[in-house]
Amino acid sequence: MSLIAARMQGIDASGIRKVFDLGAQLKDPINLSIGQPDFDVSDELKDIAVTAIRAGYNKYTPTQGLPELNAAIMEYLARGSGFKPEASLVCSGVSGALFLLMLAVLDPGDEIIFPDPYFVMYKHLAHLVGARAVMVDTYPDFQLDPGKIEAALTPKTKMILINSPSNPTGVIYSREVLTAVADMARRRNILVVSDEIYREFCYDEPYCSIAEVYPENTVVLNGLSKTSGMPGWRIGFAAGPKQIIEEMTKLQQYTFVCAPSFAQKAAVRAFALGNTHHAEYLARRNLIYNGLREAGYKVMRPGGAFYIFPKCPIEEDRFVEMALAKNCLIVPGSVFSERRGYFRISFAVHEDILRRGIEVFADLARETGGQHG
Ligand SMILES: Cc1ncc(COP(=O)(O)O)c(C=O)c1O
Repeated sequence: MSLIAARMQGIDASGIRKVFDLGAQLKDPINLSIGQPDFDVSDELKDIAVTAIRAGYNKYTPTQGLPELNAAIMEYLARGSGFKPEASLVCSGVSGALFLLMLAVLDPGDEIIFPDPYFVMYKHLAHLVGARAVMVDTYPDFQLDPGKIEAALTPKTKMILINSPSNPTGVIYSREVLTAVADMARRRNILVVSDEIYREFCYDEPYCSIAEVYPENTVVLNGLSKTSGMPGWRIGFAAGPKQIIEEMTKLQQYTFVCAPSFAQKAAVRAFALGNTHHAEYLARRNLIYNGLREAGYKVMRPGGAFYIFPKCPIEEDRFVEMALAKNCLIVPGSVFSERRGYFRISFAVHEDILRRGIEVFADLARETGGQHG
């Protein structure tokens, strides 16, 4: 008998791990594979956390999170989206929230729809709870086509999960598209989950959350890993219908217990501050997008997040290897997709590194004959 549970067989972490392993071997790489901001937590937030530790905030917090943090989250949602959810829960990052949510909502055999390309965790968590992940292809512009979502609905569809701005494409969904998805979900009483972890990284237009048009049955997930550069502090939240949040809270009691106590203290202020590095990231978005376009790449301009997802001029693996041979680390697109032929660049790096990366991509375009079909 195997020591390992059968459910683990479907979980494959090899794609992204391979990139990390390769990165560890390179000396001074042009590392464009990193999914976290390059800035550190601000001194103000560090001071709050340190003061909290010294003052003895080192015990368990209430399962649902500190009351003042839940109040700050409600304030944040009302300010940003006019969203006034029935309840909120502080989680160990958005990852923790996703895990609790899927366990609380999805039965084996239930279907969850999300757009492809997708954040890798979605597919694996869905499989872990025995649900069927139904991925809706969004190539080549990565926009959500409500018609395609409608076509993917079955009587077993229980959840539609969207991520705007998206990892890995940076795409943002318009109010019009979100309204169409909301109308469809409302007719069928489907829960919508909106992973808004990159909402503070929007470059061209004001952000629209689907919670603005489907407040009664949306769970918003967000956190501070990206916004405040504190992925190691594990602060996230889920906010939405009371019944769902209560079930998640029950599960949190027996799994994560609570999010880190000192980090919750600092998070109260962090949600009020928002993203203080926005201008820098906008400049980088422009730099990488223009650089890739000038080099001849087929690429969508990311409206948000800190990723860009160009098409490979040649076969994906070969292209990633060629970049690696030039000391440049990128993530193969198939890590995030059922399709191949693209790659993900993270521009959460210093401009100098980004410029070196652009040179590599320009060289690669020349070497591969500039064939960007
Ligand atoms: C789309 C998306 N959702 C959720 C997460 C998880 O973030 P955390 O668990 O640090 O809050 C990430 C991290 O990269 C992400 O890209």
